[in-house]
Amino acid sequence: MEEERDHNASESSLPSLSKQLESSTLGGSAVDVPVVDLSVSDEDFLVREVVKASEEWGVFQVVNHGIPTELMRQLQMVGTQFFELPDAEKETVAKEEDFEGYKKNYLGGINNWDEHLFHRLSPPSIINYKYWPKNPPQYREVTEEYTKHMKRLTEKILGWLSEGLGLQRETFTQSIGGDTAEYVLRVNFYPPTQDTELVIGAAAHSDMGAIALLIPNEVPGLQAFKDEQWLDLDYIDSAVVVIIGDQLMVWMTNGRLKNVLHRAKSDKDKLRISWPVFVAPRADMSVGPLPEFTGDENPPKFETLIYNDYIDQKIRGWALEDLPVY
Ligand code: SIN
Ligand code: FE2
Repeated sequence: MEEERDHNASESSLPSLSKQLESSTLGGSAVDVPVVDLSVSDEDFLVREVVKASEEWGVFQVVNHGIPTELMRQLQMVGTQFFELPDAEKETVAKEEDFEGYKKNYLGGINNWDEHLFHRLSPPSIINYKYWPKNPPQYREVTEEYTKHMKRLTEKILGWLSEGLGLQRETFTQSIGGDTAEYVLRVNFYPPTQDTELVIGAAAHSDMGAIALLIPNEVPGLQAFKDEQWLDLDYIDSAVVVIIGDQLMVWMTNGRLKNVLHRAKSDKDKLRISWPVFVAPRADMSVGPLPEFTGDENPPKFETLIYNDYIDQKIRGWALEDLPVY
């Protein structure tokens, strides 16, 4: 019995990647992914909009979110400048054993064809500055300022989701560890390729963490899977894309919110860059459906796990799907 439940838990935690990868070409249809204007003063309305988008789509864009446009531009500038440096300079922050650092992935095949830079942002105690570029020199200051905004916006959105699902405003933020929740930046650099039907910048996946906030450059490419088709996200100047991940949402809400399957196409002519910030519980935290979402009529659909074991399970699943693991 226990074994069967484990099996089910791991099955349902993994999106059926082979199915999506087989069936799809890289064309998407333009359907409007929800856009939520956070300057609306009616908070109940915002709560309803954010919950609806998270239940039906698992992805939405927010505008008028309070992050200064100038700061977003600066973040984009320092990241772009870093990737324009010669390889030898980029390799001064190369990935070692852990996931942090710079890596070039073009040799790995057609999936996840990118260069990227990964590093932790928060809490301060887990930051490894050795993986933060020293060049350009403003990199650290800009990134630290951006991190403050990422925390503020994440906690705001988690607060609305908590309230909208009938919980205390702090519940989701606390469930991922409050101030110990880990924020990680990944800068994805996808050069143009003529082989856009074949090469994919980021292969189909759902995010392992709780939630991610992403800004792209102006080149479209992010797609979400909904109603059995891939849909293009419109580029909206200065918007932040919110992506609901596996952990908090599928796990803690017992499947009520959607951990959206998404991927990133490369462009034929233009360089695409994206800056997702992933928010996740600490690796040693135990995560499972919250009691508020389970009961006699609604038994837990997911096993309670240590977050690190969940990561291992998911990466093993990716390896079985023959996706490069990094
Ligand atoms: C990701 O999902 O990790 C990247 C998405 C993107 O580049 O837009
Ligand atoms: Fe993602």
